[in-house]
Amino acid sequence: MASLVALVSAFLILQILSPVDALSTNYYDHTCPQLEATVTAAVKQAMMNDKTVPAALLRMHFHDCFIRGCDGSVLLNSTGGNTAEKDGPPNISLHAFYVIDNAKKAVEALCPGVVSCADILALAARDAVALSGGPTWNVPKGRLDGRTSKASDTRQLPAPIFNISQLQQSFSQRGLSMEDLVALSGGHTLGFAHCSSFQNRIHNFSPTTDVDPSLSPSFAANLRNVCPLGNTANNAGSTLDSTTTTFDNVYFKMLRQGQSIFSSDQALLTNPQTKALVSKFASSQQEFNKAFIQSMIKMSSLTGGQEIRLDCKVAR
Ligand code: HEM
Ligand SMILES: *[C@@H]1O[C@H](CO)[C@@H](O)[C@H](O)[C@H]1NC(C)=O
Ligand SMILES: *[C@@H]1O[C@H](CO)[C@@H](O)[C@H](O)[C@H]1NC(C)=O
Ligand SMILES: *[C@@H]1O[C@H](CO)[C@@H](O)[C@H](O)[C@H]1NC(C)=O
Repeated sequence: MASLVALVSAFLILQILSPVDALSTNYYDHTCPQLEATVTAAVKQAMMNDKTVPAALLRMHFHDCFIRGCDGSVLLNSTGGNTAEKDGPPNISLHAFYVIDNAKKAVEALCPGVVSCADILALAARDAVALSGGPTWNVPKGRLDGRTSKASDTRQLPAPIFNISQLQQSFSQRGLSMEDLVALSGGHTLGFAHCSSFQNRIHNFSPTTDVDPSLSPSFAANLRNVCPLGNTANNAGSTLDSTTTTFDNVYFKMLRQGQSIFSSDQALLTNPQTKALVSKFASSQQEFNKAFIQSMIKMSSLTGGQEIRLDCKVAR
């Protein structure tokens, strides 16, 4: 009897200590037990037809979390009076919104009105990594969806021309450390960049040199080839590493060899702490995976919503 009382009071204390809106990995265990399998199926299905889907989902989750917290604001459509994030300036290459919509439809059919779009996006980003050969992890859930999405907010995203202090500031404003910055920049192991995102490094870099001297000359020559000055091809650009659909540590290996795409990638080598982390992740896939999981959970715990949306594109 005494131990029962102890157990019950321990339970009550735990309930009081954990804030009501804390995320938990078993959040939907009773209300939507098939959630995760349903999201995974939707991501797998989309990947069969389009190998660029995982990169799109990972970047979409990052953008969501960096603006107003991970509240699905990135998924909202513009309305009559409002231009949404997805129609804002750095919307270049944000795509595959349909994957989240398909997943949401399937989830609504099973457990109507229960699961947030923000949680579905967080799960889809995890699945995107795992299904690309990367690690998997339990995603804390219980995010709510936001009602606000403003194109002007996308100015708060870090830019590819940022130096290390600007990157550090952008991340620390969100409670993220230098280790989070390096680990999460490893997301650039997937996907593609348009010429406009890295042209600063290959044309008119500085008054004295056309090309960023930290780039390997042959690598830079290739980039200049695909992205000539005054390039007009909308879809011209480069993959972010040489194994663009595989989640691995090749991004870090290439970075150490002067083969990175953005100035913001190169900037990770300009600070002793971040440089050491780049070396660590370049020499150990396992260390990268471990750090990436930890930092993803941290980033994706930045919450901020108020509701459970029924259609991810429309606030209620
Ligand atoms: C550190 C600051 C970061 C900057 C400045 C940055 C910048 C960019 C830019 C400019 C692009 C290319 C857009 C284009 O030209 O199409 C891109 C692509 C991408 N980024 Fe980042 N990024 C950052 C951090 C992250 C993080 C934290 C993640 C996820 C963990 C991420 C994942 C991706 C992915 C997967 C792509 C490829 C998207 C696709 O192919 O559809 N990035 N990033
Ligand atoms: C959202 O925007 C997309 C792209 O413009 C459009 O195809 C879709 O019909 C819109 N959906 C809603 C519910 O407004
Ligand atoms: C990106 O934003 C521009 C307006 O800045 C808009 O015309 C375009 O449709 C958007 N692209 C996507 C894919 O949403
Ligand atoms: C980064 O850029 C900002 C803004 O241009 C500048 O004030 C700062 O000194 C730069 N920091 C480094 C480390 O280059």
